[in-house]
Amino acid sequence: MTYAPSMGSRIGFVGAGIVARSLAIALSRQRYPVIAAASRSPSSARELSRLVSAAVPYQNPQDAIDAADVVFVTAPDDAIASVVAEAQWRERHTVVHCSGVSSLDVLRPAVERGARAGSFHPMQAFASVQNGVESIPGATFGIEGDDRVRAYLRQMALAIGGRPIFLEPEDKALYHLSGVMMGGLLSGVAAVAAQLWEHLGMERERGVQALMPMMRQVSQNLATAGVPDGIAGPYARGDVGTVRKHLQTLRARAPHVLPLYCHMGLAGLPFAIEKGALSPERAERIRSLLEEGLQ
Ligand SMILES: NC(=O)c1ccc[n+]([C@@H]2O[C@H](COP(=O)([O-])OP(=O)(O)OC[C@H]3O[C@@H](n4cnc5c(N)ncnc54)[C@H](OP(=O)(O)O)[C@@H]3O)[C@@H](O)[C@H]2O)c1
Repeated sequence: MTYAPSMGSRIGFVGAGIVARSLAIALSRQRYPVIAAASRSPSSARELSRLVSAAVPYQNPQDAIDAADVVFVTAPDDAIASVVAEAQWRERHTVVHCSGVSSLDVLRPAVERGARAGSFHPMQAFASVQNGVESIPGATFGIEGDDRVRAYLRQMALAIGGRPIFLEPEDKALYHLSGVMMGGLLSGVAAVAAQLWEHLGMERERGVQALMPMMRQVSQNLATAGVPDGIAGPYARGDVGTVRKHLQTLRARAPHVLPLYCHMGLAGLPFAIEKGALSPERAERIRSLLEEGLQ
């Protein structure tokens, strides 16, 4: 007999952190039976159970696995392989991880015992459970698995308001790093921009306050108008003099930011040209200023 996951399959979580708790709430609201949780710390499993009362907290991960048909291994990426390798799996199981960068290989010990394997990665930054639950609708879910697992996880993503896409194993890292550029790396750029406010004699937090409404609006512009129409600023307008002034100022007052500024300017230039407000002649002048800034 071949087992395939379906809407009625009992769901358990091993690793009861932010993603597990957020998904458990979202899934149980859509009547998916979330019935078991285990974690490294028993208190984390109990916390998931407090949020989703049908989920029984187990001390031992194996007990949660034995109670469930579909097991989400939502431990940190580095712990997924050992959690899976140390557990006993049966043919009825479907084991799923939520990592954006790990392949299905980490689930191989379960597959060797006849279980199915999948991945279900929300392209979203989860900072807290409340923020996590609220940010699921509209989030893209990168899905891997065989046909039956894909169909199950696709339906699951749609049920909680997500946008499912299927990924090939060789594309996984590229897919994931696009998210890291938009998340962790962009946050780093935001921190550098905010720190420049210290040169204005103000605290970095004041810079964060000043720049975040802009960041929100920039993301809104891109969400509504797309690339390149949602891109604005001196590059899109072709303000050569402004770019020159920025570079002079950075050389004098914050030279450590100069390479970052120039690389970002050069990376965005083709999209400013595509938008059409920037003449090729102005684009060339801006390009050579930025390249000079990198020397
Ligand atoms: N956070 C995000 O923005 C995000 C976005 C997309 C995908 N993901 C993926 O989602 C997965 C979970 O991430 P997360 O952000 O939810 O992490 P998290 O909040 O740190 O939760 C991980 C949970 O697993 C528990 N744990 C650690 N080692 C364990 C082990 N050996 N066995 C069982 N449980 C263990 C943790 O410890 P305790 O039991 O001590 O609490 C914690 O509760 C990761 O694969 C991550 O890449 C995260």
